[in-house]
Amino acid sequence: MPATRFYQRPGFYFLLFALFLAVLLLSEGVPFRGEKASLGPRENPHAAGPPHEFPARFALAAQDPLKAESIQLGAEIFYQTPKFAAKYVGNGLSCNSCHFQGGTQQGMLGLVGVALKYPEFDPRAGRTVTLQERLQSCFLRSLNGRAPPDGSAVLQNLVDYVSYLSTGVSKDQHLEWRALDWIPASERTPLDKLDPAAGRALFEQKCAACHGRSGGGDGWAPALWGDKTFNDGSGLARVYTLAGFLYRAMPLSSPSSLSLEQAQQVAAYLDALPRPIFSGKAQDYPGGDIPSDAVYYPQKYLENPLAARLKLEGGEVAD
Ligand code: HEC
Ligand code: HEC
Repeated sequence: MPATRFYQRPGFYFLLFALFLAVLLLSEGVPFRGEKASLGPRENPHAAGPPHEFPARFALAAQDPLKAESIQLGAEIFYQTPKFAAKYVGNGLSCNSCHFQGGTQQGMLGLVGVALKYPEFDPRAGRTVTLQERLQSCFLRSLNGRAPPDGSAVLQNLVDYVSYLSTGVSKDQHLEWRALDWIPASERTPLDKLDPAAGRALFEQKCAACHGRSGGGDGWAPALWGDKTFNDGSGLARVYTLAGFLYRAMPLSSPSSLSLEQAQQVAAYLDALPRPIFSGKAQDYPGGDIPSDAVYYPQKYLENPLAARLKLEGGEVAD
């Protein structure tokens, strides 16, 4: 009988298969590999109030082992939404593009404790909304996509993850970091004093290197206007909300280096520019009380006042 070669033994194929499985598991199963760890943590010198002990990140030695898997999946969706919830995302963004460090970074749209506050009255919806509805609205607006349906795994995983972020927080606790609209009224430059052309100059100087000059995603960082970005019904489409985010979070390379005034000027530039249209805007603010910085709302402004000013100043919008 001739000697069998190694590749003729069944054991060899078993080994090959096991190797293949191991590679697959390593590439897909490692938690949080989507996180841009290379970007490192960001300091937030502007964070107001006493520092909150954020829960140890993803110490999934969970309180509730039954939920642990769902929480883990929720975290993966949060970090890499276009990959793990592709059907529902209409741009390239992940939840983590705006809620940094998985939503645990104080002052950067931190979500710790937030789940406990729902159901809550939402002036934009004109009624009380559940956490599920709030998350669905993130998909519709910030991700310019579709809402994962009630009862879907994607929604449940995210609910479990976002709820998990409230571990150790009590329901009545005041969340200092939960400032939905970050530029306080006393610090706001009135809308008619904002100069989108000045904002454009700042953008070119401080942002374009990463986000690209055309904003359409020609940089390595996400698009900030055009088709592939948050739509005109999202939180960041409001000038002072966007300014608050920029003030703390951007430029990513030196966060908190913009002055309050500069953050508002850049926000005025970005929110002067075209972005995807959210068709549900007509149903928003049914009470009629539309905030003045909701510049894309035709119920409020026939034409976006910042866009009009940019045009007047001879600002062609993009390259
Ligand atoms: C383009 C930026 C952006 C993206 C992407 C984004 N969000 Fe948000 N999110 C915001 C902003 C801004 C707010 C708060 C301000 C507002 O909407 O008025 C917010 C609010 C929230 C809230 C409510 C916070 C509170 O205090 O009540 C939750 C929960 C939330 N987001 C979860 C998510 C999840 C989950 C995803 C991904 C499916 C996501 N967000 C994607 C910008 C974003
Ligand atoms: C060093 C590169 C870099 C610079 C400079 C920078 N950004 Fe960003 N920015 C990023 C990255 C990367 C993200 C996505 C964050 C993530 O995924 O962790 C981001 C996210 C954002 C977001 C939220 C997500 C989105 O795309 O809507 C906005 C808004 C934003 N940047 C605006 C600005 C503005 C305005 C400036 C200039 C003041 C700026 N950025 C400067 C890299 C940068």
